[in-house]
Amino acid sequence: MHLSGTKKLNEKGHLTIGGCDTVELAKRFGTPLYIFDEAGIRSNCRRLCETLKKQPVQGQIIYAGKAFLTLAMCKLIQEEGLGLDVVSGGELYTALAAGFPMEKIYFHGNNKTPDELIMALEAGVGRYVVDNCYELDLLSKLSGRMNIQAKVLLRLTPGVSAHTHHYIQTGHEESKFGFNLSNGQALEATKKALGFTSIDLLGYHCHIGSQIFCEDSFALAARIMVDYIKQVSLETGWTAEELNLGGGLGIRYTEEDTPISFERYVALISEAVVSHCREVQLPLPRIVMEPGRSIIGEMGTTLYTVGSIKQVSGGKTYLAVNGGMCDNPRTALYQAQYEAALANKAAAESENTYTVVGKCCESGDILIHEIVLPKAKKGDLLAVFCTGAYNYSMASNYNRIPRPAAVLVNNGEAALIIRRECFEDILSNDIIPEHMK
Ligand SMILES: Cc1ncc(COP(=O)(O)O)c(C=O)c1O
Repeated sequence: MHLSGTKKLNEKGHLTIGGCDTVELAKRFGTPLYIFDEAGIRSNCRRLCETLKKQPVQGQIIYAGKAFLTLAMCKLIQEEGLGLDVVSGGELYTALAAGFPMEKIYFHGNNKTPDELIMALEAGVGRYVVDNCYELDLLSKLSGRMNIQAKVLLRLTPGVSAHTHHYIQTGHEESKFGFNLSNGQALEATKKALGFTSIDLLGYHCHIGSQIFCEDSFALAARIMVDYIKQVSLETGWTAEELNLGGGLGIRYTEEDTPISFERYVALISEAVVSHCREVQLPLPRIVMEPGRSIIGEMGTTLYTVGSIKQVSGGKTYLAVNGGMCDNPRTALYQAQYEAALANKAAAESENTYTVVGKCCESGDILIHEIVLPKAKKGDLLAVFCTGAYNYSMASNYNRIPRPAAVLVNNGEAALIIRRECFEDILSNDIIPEHMK
């Protein structure tokens, strides 16, 4: 069992996180329970920011809120000095409610609605990462009407798609995001943005993918973007001053995953930008990186209670927990892999092979296809690791299952940051029309 962050075993053989015994956490807060390691999240933020400060280029780390965003998470990110990437009115509303500094917000999204843009303009959002011409026109119209200069980055697709340890470089991109760099769309959008008086075009953005382990993909994307800034500078006389290179740093879900360290990630991107700007004789842009998964992913653990254990013909043994694809859809969505442990028997020898399934009425509701654990029985606690990113944020009420609570643990203390949903919450938006009463 690989224990990252503050995960340890105590003298009772129980898994502890942030100095809290997970068996006690289950008793106090119930299960399923998302447990977040505060010291680990803060340490990740600091490593990224401190490494960036040492580079010979100005820059900013922003957290991609889509990975996991709540009021407490906004506070933590703010305290650590990061900016925040939001992609919807709901994420922006969360940041506003938490008192997050609006000038440090980057507003993403490929189909921002007029209402969302007005909300952002009224709030004083720092950057609009514009995805398409429809949005550019809309933003220019709305910001003009409100007498605001919207600071804009154009999202480009550099034709690098990164998958784990490899990258594929294509001349064109079929992604639904951004302006295509190679077919003239990006240049057209640049000229258009420069012509709008209520748009202050600051630079470009790209994001080449997620769960990336390949250093070359990040470096290549950085060089392509620098080349493009140079090309546009020569063609238009305007030089981008900000370059946002997105997120995508991979994490260790299982022992096959070999992530790039935060230090290496920041340094390699900075080096690629600095050295290539020197080569093509371009003034250094300010760089922005927006990791999500790597800040929060390994720092989250989901604690479940084991219910039915069933052996089926063919020899497979299903171990069912009291959650599933409703609190973690990632295995069902894209065959994500996880490691796990029996939290109340974490020191016991692993000898049985299980398929961990949830309680949803869906045969694809599998959390872990195959895992070797100590012999399990009903009432045991299963801790699934690395569930901090894209779990709560993608959770649903499928089968009208209330979403779990979440706690932040640190130095032996646990603080509730998301209250457990109850059945009343499930009914709260339902209406019986008059004619059925
Ligand atoms: C534009 C953008 N930035 C940042 C991220 C964060 O990526 P990750 O969580 O893999 O670091 C994403 C993820 O989809 C994204 O689309």
